[in-house]
Amino acid sequence: MKQKVTQKLNVLITGASSGIGNMTAVYFAKKGHTVFGTSRNPEKIDKKADELFSYIRMDVTDDASVNETIQTLLQKIEKIDIVICNAGMGISGPIETTPIEYIEKQINTNFWGTLRVLRSVLPGMREKGGKIFIIGSMAGRAGIPFQGYYAASKFALEGLVESLRYELMGFPVQVAIIEPGDFRTGFTGSRLKFEDERDPYFKKCKQAVAIMENDEQHGANPIVLAQLLYKLALSNRKLKVRYSVGMLFQRFAMFLKRILPCNLYEYLFSKYYKVS
Ligand SMILES: NC(=O)c1ccc[n+]([C@@H]2O[C@H](COP(=O)([O-])OP(=O)(O)OC[C@H]3O[C@@H](n4cnc5c(N)ncnc54)[C@H](OP(=O)(O)O)[C@@H]3O)[C@@H](O)[C@H]2O)c1
Repeated sequence: MKQKVTQKLNVLITGASSGIGNMTAVYFAKKGHTVFGTSRNPEKIDKKADELFSYIRMDVTDDASVNETIQTLLQKIEKIDIVICNAGMGISGPIETTPIEYIEKQINTNFWGTLRVLRSVLPGMREKGGKIFIIGSMAGRAGIPFQGYYAASKFALEGLVESLRYELMGFPVQVAIIEPGDFRTGFTGSRLKFEDERDPYFKKCKQAVAIMENDEQHGANPIVLAQLLYKLALSNRKLKVRYSVGMLFQRFAMFLKRILPCNLYEYLFSKYYKVS
């Protein structure tokens, strides 16, 4: 169905300095909407490349940073129509041996970080309306070897969104989770890897992570996500709980996850990641 832009939306996108967030910010801005994109270090960004939208400082791991940024924004604009909770990062390493500080960073950024933004925008949006998109991952539907904590952070978001949708029934705000497969972004380069040659999982971990990184580097173009988010933001239809998006074989893998017996799915994927 063809979309018609009837109003100028105020759009807040966390993690807009790179990858999916940046592509989405540029896409909405080029369509004429007012975009506020967050970064921990807006001063480091090449302004020429992104003069289409405004950067605001936010570190999603810091309560004060999130709350102050949202409050300052709400003093400038009447309401935020669309929020895209996208800021995130990944760690890799074995469940048993990954140091606790890596795990804390993972959960604090992806889960708590999303939660901080969500709780900060909800009072206004619950009253004035809008749509919230949480960027999850296909790894939030299917565990991956040596990215267990990343998967856990994204599985947690799935439960959060499912629960929140019930609680928001009757209010004019909708929420959905977007589950990207592999996309070519800065995500691979920013991954925090725990690798130690003395670790009993070292070889398997290195091999499995190399397969994932190769998939990411040959992944889809984030424009696909920007287009989907734009379509959903403007649609008059009720949002579904989740939208899986990515290359055909990855969407097929999600389909297999739903229909195959768990042990068969596990067997197939252990072969794919060469861990069995
Ligand atoms: N790429 C993929 O294959 C893939 C697949 C599934 C899901 N995802 C999800 O998609 C989202 C975006 O990732 P991407 O692939 O676009 O990666 P990216 O290119 O590395 O971008 C990550 C963004 O998150 C921001 N960020 C990181 N830590 C932050 C923090 N503590 N506070 C605020 N902002 C922070 C970064 O901004 P600053 O550094 O400027 O602060 C950056 O703009 C993530 O949630 C990721 O888990 C990605």
